[in-house]
Amino acid sequence: MIQTLEWTKAGVRFLDQTKLPTEEVYVTCRSYQEVADVIRGMVVRGAPAIGVAAAMGIALGVESSRAQTLEEFERELHEICRVIGETRPTAVNLFWAIRRMQEKFQSLRACPLSKIRRGLVEEAQRMHVEDISINQAMGRHGAVLMPASGGVLTHCNAGALATCGYGTALGVVRAAVEQGKQLHVYADETRPFLQGARLTAWELVKDGIPTTVISDSMSGAMMRQGKIGAVIVGADRIAANGDVANKIGTYTVAVLAREHAIPFYVAAPLSTIDLLTPEGSQIPIEQRDPSEVTHIAGKPITPPGVEVENPAFDVTPARFVSAIVTEHGIARAPYEQSLTSLVRAAADGHRPPE
Ligand code: MRU
Repeated sequence: MIQTLEWTKAGVRFLDQTKLPTEEVYVTCRSYQEVADVIRGMVVRGAPAIGVAAAMGIALGVESSRAQTLEEFERELHEICRVIGETRPTAVNLFWAIRRMQEKFQSLRACPLSKIRRGLVEEAQRMHVEDISINQAMGRHGAVLMPASGGVLTHCNAGALATCGYGTALGVVRAAVEQGKQLHVYADETRPFLQGARLTAWELVKDGIPTTVISDSMSGAMMRQGKIGAVIVGADRIAANGDVANKIGTYTVAVLAREHAIPFYVAAPLSTIDLLTPEGSQIPIEQRDPSEVTHIAGKPITPPGVEVENPAFDVTPARFVSAIVTEHGIARAPYEQSLTSLVRAAADGHRPPE
């Protein structure tokens, strides 16, 4: 399985996603500041992977803390969480992971500092293991939605590389293929960062799943030609009403899917559902460096001085979403009710249905 990120004795090791698909190189971070830099610089990206990277960054930070008292330790933890929390604003998994590490600290605060440090490192490692089984559960639930054969369109990378392994949207595709469905993935290249062309194509080709890369502007024509039976994407944050923030261009795909009566599915773990954000317009959208739009592989493609916009995400209104696949089952409209009851069932410790 692809090792997107990993806790090692030397530090947290990341497969450098800015170098794929031409180079398969790893970066080892030895401090929480370095982890913050790799999250901001997209060495690691994708909502669930960002969450676990954040937890591991916090673990690294507290492991090397020299604090002698609980007060000093708590101050350091607060600062580490602040730095990591300022890396990327849209994927709610980042804040979910920070909160989980803070809650773990609270549950251990009566213990000696050595035990608190060990407990936080173990919690981050547990989140890594859990993420993979969550994705496999999502795959089991979502596979039934995939057509028996034919084209499935995806946007950005919601695969093994965006998680600790297996993937969310691509986890559903993988599970369907494992069940014998004959799927052919159409991967939008996903301008400007090219996660589809570089990352989705890389991991699917590695797995032997038939894949065609198309430029973002081709998806409507592919749908019109009858090549696409379903769309499946991941999410960075899902508001309580089911509005979905995901990679820029997702909204366009959802509108096109509706026009062509093609189901539009979202696969995301419960940690991506943000019940505290009532609707999509309240989701903070990350604005990235204009050079991602004006340059390709370091070469300018626009005249100097032109104005540029580079929002990294857009919001797809819930009415375009046919279903949301989670590790606890499938949510359908009205999402206010279905998402709340899935999140509550999980919090009450109900096991997800097999
Ligand atoms: O900017 P990125 O590459 O972090 O954006 C990633 C996406 O938009 C993914 O679709 C989303 O995080 C879901 S990943 C399972």
